[in-house]
Amino acid sequence: MRIVLLGAPGAGKGTQAKKLIEKFVIPQISTGDILRQAVADQTQLGKEAKAFMDSGGLVPDSVVIGLVKERLSQDDCKKGFILDGFPRNTAQAETLDGVLASVNMPLEVALSVDVDFDVLLKRLTGRRTCRSKDCGQMYNIYFSPAKKEGFCDKCGTELYQRDDDKEATIKKRLDVYKAQTEPLIDYYSKKGILKRVEGVGDIAEIFNKICAILK
Ligand code: AP5
Ligand code: MG
Ligand code: ZN
Repeated sequence: MRIVLLGAPGAGKGTQAKKLIEKFVIPQISTGDILRQAVADQTQLGKEAKAFMDSGGLVPDSVVIGLVKERLSQDDCKKGFILDGFPRNTAQAETLDGVLASVNMPLEVALSVDVDFDVLLKRLTGRRTCRSKDCGQMYNIYFSPAKKEGFCDKCGTELYQRDDDKEATIKKRLDVYKAQTEPLIDYYSKKGILKRVEGVGDIAEIFNKICAILK
């Protein structure tokens, strides 16, 4: 299964990807997670990316595309993958199509998780994330709190709030989504692989709807 997850910041791409990787036993490739890890590790990549991420803008295509190409070439992607947060503009989508065509592994589904903009702000300000890079589970202080406040249910690691989940940055991220990423819905629709799911309601119910779509 080769899937792209589309959706605005806070739509639940990461939340659903965590469930999908368990069910389908394929890797999640989240460019946001890879970049945040690089920032935390203070690598050259992290230093380049940080200012773009803190402002809510996109990291340059050349940087992100290089990352994804490298990740897709690893063995565990041969049986499929879930791209989360990539592609984010038409140039990235076109490059991805070229890369996958060259290895004869075209995308099968682009799944858009649709959530109204007014819901997203509360989701993002309330988000807390597990700091463990092997886990990275998301919680929400309003909608899906951890059992023990501040710690991950799955692995016990402390939870943190993302630097870009501040109100002003969230607004910028939503603007960038509208201008640059939303057009990809049309892009994949024209290719005949677009599916859509309503991303509001119970997380498990949304997951069931996604599984039905992917069958
Ligand atoms: P990235 O990490 O991709 O962030 P994003 O696209 O803004 O998306 P989020 O991770 O915020 O949302 P999500 O849909 O995963 O929601 P989640 O499941 O966590 O990118 C961050 C930055 O990195 C970018 O701004 C950019 O600078 C850079 N970057 C990344 N990729 C790039 C690329 N390709 N090109 C250039 N730059 C790139 O859920 C959100 C919250 O809601 C959680 O608290 C969750 O518990 C809760 N929630 C989820 N589902 C539900 C539900 N059904 N009901 C109630 N609450 C729910
Ligand atoms: Mg995410
Ligand atoms: Zn954890």
